[in-house]
Amino acid sequence: MNNSDFTPRDNFSSKFGIIAAAAGSAVGLGNIWKFPYVAGQNGGGAFLVVYLLFVVAIGLPVMLSEFSIGRRAQRNALGSFKKLAPGKPWYLVGVMGLAASFLILSFYSAVAGWTLEYVFRSVTGVFSGTKEQDFEYIFVSFISGTWRPLFWQLLFMALTAWIVMAGIKKGIEKYTKVLMPLLVIMIIILCIRSTTLPGAAEGLAFLFQPDFSALSTDAVLGALGQAFFSLSLGMGTLITYGSYIGKNNNLSTTVVQVSAADTIIAIMAGVAIFPAVFAFGIDPAEGPGLVFITLPNIFQQMAFGGFFELLFFVLLAVAALTSSISLLEVVVAYFIEELHMKRITATIFAAVMITILGVFCTLSFGVMSGVEIFGMIIFDLMDFTASNLLLPLGGFFIVAFVGWYLGSELSRREISNEGQLKVRYFPVFMFLVKFVAPFAITLVFIYGLGLLRI
Ligand code: TRP
Repeated sequence: MNNSDFTPRDNFSSKFGIIAAAAGSAVGLGNIWKFPYVAGQNGGGAFLVVYLLFVVAIGLPVMLSEFSIGRRAQRNALGSFKKLAPGKPWYLVGVMGLAASFLILSFYSAVAGWTLEYVFRSVTGVFSGTKEQDFEYIFVSFISGTWRPLFWQLLFMALTAWIVMAGIKKGIEKYTKVLMPLLVIMIIILCIRSTTLPGAAEGLAFLFQPDFSALSTDAVLGALGQAFFSLSLGMGTLITYGSYIGKNNNLSTTVVQVSAADTIIAIMAGVAIFPAVFAFGIDPAEGPGLVFITLPNIFQQMAFGGFFELLFFVLLAVAALTSSISLLEVVVAYFIEELHMKRITATIFAAVMITILGVFCTLSFGVMSGVEIFGMIIFDLMDFTASNLLLPLGGFFIVAFVGWYLGSELSRREISNEGQLKVRYFPVFMFLVKFVAPFAITLVFIYGLGLLRI
């Protein structure tokens, strides 16, 4: 990712680096842990249709907007707004992004900790011989504990901080290029095993036959939140990454490739999960435990299941790590630039604060499960506030900024690499960022939050 690399070969490798980094951020627990359980809670097929619609009509324009803002400004999330709109309140979008990154990483690290526990269990082989109905009990008793889940969460945050501290560029890119394709192969194997289980058809029907009568307004807001969460949008992660993208990269192509990869992996996770959910009589609306209960069941039905289980959870932990790094980096970059901290101090400071918040998320499944705010335990409250409120709101202002503040001329110059690329779709993009995306987000908000009922 060097602006001075103009030879075609270097160009190619840097292009791959950009995609690996952005896809590394996008592909994570959101695809494999969250997508199946949110789809399961919201009726399956109809949720998937709405989700895909949001990815295309809102996700793509928001992502292209974030990349454009970052590459234009060559700054971090908050600094970009300050530079492009000096003296204007637009930087508050960056402030909101920082808040979102705190909230997301606090519950993200809790779930990432669970994956580490499952890595550990695969190594020690404690699952062998477990009966179908016991996996739920095993999962629930683990997450409702105190020290064990906290230990794994702490370890995961330490890993994240350690990598961010050391500087991510080379190491992370090198790993993701190898590990992400491996993860895809693993999911394909799981899809095959799952769809060949007796009774698999019911699960596929659940995912692919939309029943729109089951679609609630909550589900529509959930689909919007999930689209933002899964694509890493709405809080400036991709503004920061955009600032590292060379001026000769075709941003629109990158956007389409990253979004397609993210969406395909989420759907494949659904194909791996739902047939097994129905085959083993698990409730599709099970919630955050869905993959942790379903997958060990599938592994038990496979030859070399223990080995595949270990491999899968290691890869899932790595996918979570490449995402958590991008979340922490947003805060760290801000601390370095605005508060003039050293990278090491900034990383430790941010990680410690997020971990403290994260402890409450983890404990909200155990000793603090009685604490409910707006009817949600702390974990769900963090997730809901960040994913369903802050991210779409951030996305609203990001597209509005590009559509109405930067305007057509500057945006066209940025996206067409100062006129070098043909951008025939540009009027469509402008129409989406000026009208469709802001309007759609507002509408989903109003209905989803119950401000208006029909
Ligand atoms: N997209 C990641 C996932 O699906 C999580 C993530 C990383 C994220 N960076 C983000 C979510 C920024 C929202 C905003 O697991």
